[in-house]
Amino acid sequence: MKIPPPPVHRGVRIAGTGSYVPEGLLTNDDLARMVDTSDEWIQQRTGIRRRHICDPTTEGTLVMSREALRRALDQAGLEASSLDMIIVATVTMEMTCPSTAARIAGELGATPAAAFDITAACCGFLYALNLADTLVRSGRADRVGIVGCDWMSSIIDYDDRSCSILFGDAAGAAVLEATDDPSKGCIHQTMHADGRGWPALYIPRRDRDLADGDTVEGIRLGCLRMNGREVYKFAVNQFQNSISGALEAAELTPDEVGSYICHQSNLRIIESAVEKLGLPREKVYVNIDEYGNSSAGSVGLCLDQMRTKGLIDESKPSLLVAFGGGMTWSSCVWNW
Ligand code: ACO
Repeated sequence: MKIPPPPVHRGVRIAGTGSYVPEGLLTNDDLARMVDTSDEWIQQRTGIRRRHICDPTTEGTLVMSREALRRALDQAGLEASSLDMIIVATVTMEMTCPSTAARIAGELGATPAAAFDITAACCGFLYALNLADTLVRSGRADRVGIVGCDWMSSIIDYDDRSCSILFGDAAGAAVLEATDDPSKGCIHQTMHADGRGWPALYIPRRDRDLADGDTVEGIRLGCLRMNGREVYKFAVNQFQNSISGALEAAELTPDEVGSYICHQSNLRIIESAVEKLGLPREKVYVNIDEYGNSSAGSVGLCLDQMRTKGLIDESKPSLLVAFGGGMTWSSCVWNW
C-alpha cells in the first residue's frame, strides 16, 4: 500500500475565536473585606480593579471551555463535527479522567475528534496554539479547536492575600484550519520550561507535594501557593526576553508588529516590557483591570476581545507572549 506523505506546503488561519467570562464579580473592595488589603494597594501593585468569578453551582472549567469553543465555532460558521481535534489547556480540570476536551467534544458533537488536555499554566493557550499550528501545518490535522481556560477561584485560598487578589476565571478559544498560503499562521514559536523553579508557583494536593521550606501549617492543600517576588523577578526577565527574542527571530522591529497579545499577570510586568523594549503602547492590549489574571484563559480572552473589537491590524503580524507556573514561557508570531 502506498501512503501519500502529508502536505507540508500549507499555512494555518484562525477561522474563529470565542470566549466566556462569568458574570459574577469580585472587586478589590470585596477582597478588602476578606483580608488585610485595600483597593489602592491592589491597583498600584497590579493594575487590577476587579475580576470575574464563576458561580460554582452552575459554572466551572467544563462550562467555560465548552461555551468559549462553541462561540468560536459559531463565529467561524462551522459545525463541531468538522473538527479533527480539540485541545484544552488548563490547570483546573474538573476531573483528570475524562479530560475536559473529551467531555466538551462529546457535548458539542465533535466525536470522534481527538481530544486531550494540556497543562502549561498561564502559557497553556499559547502552547495549544503553537501545537495546533504545527499539527495543521504538517497535514496531521485539518481543523483544530483550542481552548485556554482556568477556574482560578476554585483553587484560591481566599485567606491568602498574596494570591487571592490576582486571579479571575475565564476561557478563550480559537478554531484553526488549513489554508493554501504557507506564509499564513505561526511564523515563529517558542515553548520552554524550567522545572527547577516549580516551588515558586504550585498547587500541592497532598503533604508530600510540599516544596522544601513549606509546611502543612497555614497551607490549604488543593490551593495555589505562590512566591510573588520570585515569580515577579522571573516574569519581568522572561517576558522581555521572549518578546525581544521573537522580534529578532522573525526579523521584525517593534513597530512592524500590528498587535501585542500578552498574558495578563500584572500591569507592572507589561509596562516594564513596553518601556524597556520601546513597544508602541497603543498596540499592547491590556484588560487586567477588569479580569485579573485568568491563567490559561488570559491570552485567548485577549485574542477574542481584540478580534471582536477590530483591534487587530491583520496587515501586520501579531506577537503573542506568556509565562507561567512550571515555570514555563512561550511566544508566537502570527501572520494573519
Ligand atoms: N495587600 C496589602 N499588602 C500586601 C498584599 C496585599 N494583597 N500582598 C502582600 N502585601 C505586603 C507584603 O506582606 C509585604 O509586606 P512587608 O513589606 O511588610 O513584608 C509588602 O506588601 C510587599 O510585598 P511584595 O510581595 O514585595 O509585593 P510586590 O510589590 O512584589 O507585589 C505581587 C506582590 C503583586 C504578588 C507581585 O509580587 C507580583 O505581581 N508577582 C507576580 C505574580 C504573578 O504574576 N503571578 C502569576 C504568574 S504565573 C501565572 O500567571 C499563573
